[in-house]
Amino acid sequence: MEPKKKLTKPKGKLGILTPGMGAVATTFYAGVEAVRRGYAKPYGSLTQMGTIRLGKRTENRMPMIKDFVPLAQMKDLVFGGWDIFEDNAYEAALHAGVLDPALVERVRPFLEGLKPMKAVFDQHYVKRLSGTWVKKAKNWYDHAEQIKEDIIAFKEREGCDRIVMVWTASTEIFMKPTKAHRDIESFEKALRARSPEIAPSMVYAYAALSLGIPFANGAPNLTVDIPALMELAREKKVPVAGKDFKTGQTLMKTILAPGLKARMLGLNGWYSTNILGNRDGEVLDDPESFKTKEESKLSVLEYILQPKLYPDLYEKFSHVVRINYYPPRGDNKEGWDNIDIFGWLGYPMQIKINFLCRDSILAAPIVLDLALFMDMAHRIGMRGIQEWLSFYFKSPMHAPDLYPEHDLFIQLMKLKNTLRYIQGEDLITHLGQEYYD
Ligand SMILES: NC(=O)c1ccc[n+]([C@@H]2O[C@H](COP(=O)([O-])OP(=O)(O)OC[C@H]3O[C@@H](n4cnc5c(N)ncnc54)[C@H](O)[C@@H]3O)[C@@H](O)[C@H]2O)c1
Repeated sequence: MEPKKKLTKPKGKLGILTPGMGAVATTFYAGVEAVRRGYAKPYGSLTQMGTIRLGKRTENRMPMIKDFVPLAQMKDLVFGGWDIFEDNAYEAALHAGVLDPALVERVRPFLEGLKPMKAVFDQHYVKRLSGTWVKKAKNWYDHAEQIKEDIIAFKEREGCDRIVMVWTASTEIFMKPTKAHRDIESFEKALRARSPEIAPSMVYAYAALSLGIPFANGAPNLTVDIPALMELAREKKVPVAGKDFKTGQTLMKTILAPGLKARMLGLNGWYSTNILGNRDGEVLDDPESFKTKEESKLSVLEYILQPKLYPDLYEKFSHVVRINYYPPRGDNKEGWDNIDIFGWLGYPMQIKINFLCRDSILAAPIVLDLALFMDMAHRIGMRGIQEWLSFYFKSPMHAPDLYPEHDLFIQLMKLKNTLRYIQGEDLITHLGQEYYD
């Protein structure tokens, strides 16, 4: 197979802009810098650590993904962002308390240079936060213009060749698509009217897409998952991806549930609860923000287990998800899962998971991979929803007539086959040709 498009290594700097410079974003910036300086390794990042098998098993071709497809290199990345607090990334990293202060000190000048731009914010959408570092404007449309000016100024200041945007700001309240989101015209009308149907995250996404900048959504907010912004993405030929980084308990669910289903083991119930004490936990303590998260977390099992196809095994399972804000834990979440399963002849069994997890440590490499893959996708002309990046999301965006794929292993196969496809390599089917003459 020939490559789908002549693929060349990118030249120049890639700017990664993050609305939200909290725990995830600062763990990401500091981590990239620590890796660049050789202080640590980029564990958890498929683009940096992963390999891809090409051709037959006998060919022994297993390049690193970063050598196989033309990704931007770590040395060429520059960062910027917005936040409702004025703290620079050094102060914000210390506040988040994810990384060891000694490591934060080692990259202090780099982090101190990352100062947030003023945010587009309204407390209506994130009840638990009230910020001071916030832009003023007549309506959402003018806010979007200000974000565009910020992006253009950043690009010039940093001498960037290209930009991608990854949403790492707080989870907004639960919203459903409405008439205002139907098409670009209605959306722009709502922007000008400062409609409550427009959330700040939509303003950032609109600004990015209008400038032809790829947008990935790390939170469960509706944001770019509306017809108007999908239309804009198609028109401007930009890739979008979302929603909600797949970390922690949901990551475990999408690892374990496909295994149970593969062995035709039934499920009576899956109870998940966890405690966390970071700012994200505080935001999610508000029922309206939690509802957005809950929707994102609940759909996973339904889609993986397919109760309609397997009514005997999965028709009646009960699925409960709780998040409890518990300040002493900081970013070091602890999750408990109790899983009631049944096997041969209906005999019940239980699985208990106690995951002492570090949320932002799991999320930071996802930000890196998404930024690099989204940039590559854009350069080679891929546009609209990037379903092959579902691997990274709890609530993967998908075409309206398709269901989302949640199974981590199918997602990984899809991701790697997409990379093979764009480089003109044969897709891997795992079929054992050797059984036939
Ligand atoms: N940590 C994880 O593993 C994980 C996993 C999945 C999703 N997420 C999502 O990623 C997001 C970030 O998580 P976090 O742990 O870094 O949270 P955080 O609270 O530490 O950081 C979010 C930052 O966004 C800022 N913010 C809020 N509204 C803003 C706006 N309109 N514009 C600019 N900045 C704004 C806040 O001031 C805060 O500094 C959350 O939405 C969270 O739900 C995180």
